[in-house]
Amino acid sequence: MIYLKTDEEIELMRESNLLVGMTLGEMAKWVVPGITTLRLDKIAEEFIRDHGAEPGFLGYAGYPNSLCISVNEVIVHGIPNSYALREGDIVSIDCGVVKNGFNGDSAYTFCVGEVAPEVKQLLKTTKESLYLGIEHAVEGKRIGDIGHAIQTYCEARGYSVVRELCGHGVGKHLHEEPNVPNYGRPGTGPLLKNGMCIAIEPMINLGSRNIVIERDGWTTRTRDRKPAAHFEHTIAIKGGKADILSSFEYVEQVLGDKSI
Ligand code: MF3
Ligand code: CO
Repeated sequence: MIYLKTDEEIELMRESNLLVGMTLGEMAKWVVPGITTLRLDKIAEEFIRDHGAEPGFLGYAGYPNSLCISVNEVIVHGIPNSYALREGDIVSIDCGVVKNGFNGDSAYTFCVGEVAPEVKQLLKTTKESLYLGIEHAVEGKRIGDIGHAIQTYCEARGYSVVRELCGHGVGKHLHEEPNVPNYGRPGTGPLLKNGMCIAIEPMINLGSRNIVIERDGWTTRTRDRKPAAHFEHTIAIKGGKADILSSFEYVEQVLGDKSI
């Protein structure tokens, strides 16, 4: 069942998602060569708690940390550990918080120092595909319209779309109905209505679309070990169109002209 949110609930969702955006902005300051992903996780956890909220991923389905930090060939759900970031890495930081009973959920893929041009282009295209998908998240369209827009945009540029993982409804629960695939056919799937809140999160690979889930049960990487990108926004459908509740503004303020 799809939970439609009232305008008041959407404002609470905006608060949670704004804090996620601020946390990602804080991360942008710390993503430098030499920092471990576990240190990033601790900084984010403290930042979230200092702002009167709880990490949304910690303990979810047994997940052990506050952030998912996915480096290079890891697509999503990387568990923070003792790995120290290196110049040339890309790192997806996926952050969730719960505030006032509502979840925020957003992710950004950062460059560590200078990154190979073909990898930078993958990040740029993935981010663009997210905004393109969002343009289709309007009342009267269907879930398949979002996925179709993302898929055609990315595949036309030679990238591949992960099938096993999707975006999702979001609200009091981190994962609600409907599923929001990053592929699909126009005019198919659940109808989009005012009050729906969904997380759209393209996971796009430089090489083939095949994935492997590591033995830890979380870490999801490309089978060919080529890099993957991941960007995510939580949006509400309000007044007929998409209202982006999370924000990359804090990140982009910190990155300035280094922003992709
Ligand atoms: N944004 C990710 C997702 O929606 C993060 C979930 S990680 C989990 O799947 F640990 F919380 F499951
Ligand atoms: Co999500």
